[in-house]
Amino acid sequence: MSESEKLLVVKDLATTFATAGGLVPAVGGVSFDLERNETLGIVGESGSGKTVLSRTIMGLQPRANVTVTGSARVNGFEVVGASEKEKRQIWGTEVAMVFQDPMTSLNPVMRIGKQIDEALRVRMGMNRAAARARAIELLELVGIPSPAQRYDAYPGQLSGGMRQRVVIATALACSPKLLMADEPTTGLDVTIQAQILNLLDELKDRLKMSVILVTHDLGVVATRTSRIVVMYAGRIVETGSTREVFYHHRMPYTRALLESSPKVSNHPHTRLATIPGRPPNLLKLAQGCSFAPRCAYATDRCHQERPELQPAAEPGHSFACWNPLPTTRGVAAP
Ligand SMILES: Nc1ncnc2c1ncn2[C@@H]1O[C@H](COP(=O)(O)OP(=O)(O)O)[C@@H](O)[C@H]1O
Ligand SMILES: [Mg+2]
Repeated sequence: MSESEKLLVVKDLATTFATAGGLVPAVGGVSFDLERNETLGIVGESGSGKTVLSRTIMGLQPRANVTVTGSARVNGFEVVGASEKEKRQIWGTEVAMVFQDPMTSLNPVMRIGKQIDEALRVRMGMNRAAARARAIELLELVGIPSPAQRYDAYPGQLSGGMRQRVVIATALACSPKLLMADEPTTGLDVTIQAQILNLLDELKDRLKMSVILVTHDLGVVATRTSRIVVMYAGRIVETGSTREVFYHHRMPYTRALLESSPKVSNHPHTRLATIPGRPPNLLKLAQGCSFAPRCAYATDRCHQERPELQPAAEPGHSFACWNPLPTTRGVAAP
């Protein structure tokens, strides 16, 4: 497939914040792409730049103190450098985002139906009756029982899971081709998490969308994505097909993430393994590999020279590491 046919092409994308403490390279030069009707997982521990990357792709950045370079083309539209007015052409219709916290993305004093209506009337130019009918249809689509009655409910009258369904309905209002879901199940209990993830999966096929699923938990993307991008300190450190990343990862950080992911088989009160050491300070990034200070396999070279992504055995799989884990190719998958 040629690049122009891809839904999303990101090249050397970098987002830097100017802060009192210095420059924060929150996203430090990232390249990847996304096919139509594909689900991609973006995974990394907290602070690795997932939210800043997603917001940069949407073109949602504070106006002051931020520099964005590189390129992010959504269905051919270059987001980097586009004006607010130009970006309004793609918000909602080409790309929409489900934010991390459903409570802050819903207005607590506005009936949920009205919140969906608004997008339809302003963006799609629908009249009141048409917007109401479509909003109810969207509530039904995301699995809200008795949608016509729930249309008049306030967010506080719904459970966390139902609220997240409303947020998804709002994002879907203008039929986006790309839905970005940033930690869409954080704070929800495990059963509800699975329901929301299944819903996103189902909607992707029904609406022929592409989905970017952003999460700190590799377990969330295991069965629901075709490819994974692993981020650390604002960069991609490993990427490949989901299967490859799970079973044949080479980067020690990917392994550490896997080991820190909650397992269904764990007793509910098992303490989660966390990755030892401190997350990197972006103001003082080491000149070598950013993960080296926490890596059990780091060599002198790792501390001195930054590894670039290099191809692994399977096409599409690459990793940035000077001293990778031994390849497990040819060994039966666990
Ligand atoms: N507006 C901002 N100004 C300065 N630093 C920021 C800003 N927004 C995010 N950051 C920093 O960028 C880094 C990445 O943050 P984020 O993308 O939220 O991580 P993640 O979503 O992976 O947890 C963090 O170190 C965070 O402190
Ligand atoms: Mg985040």
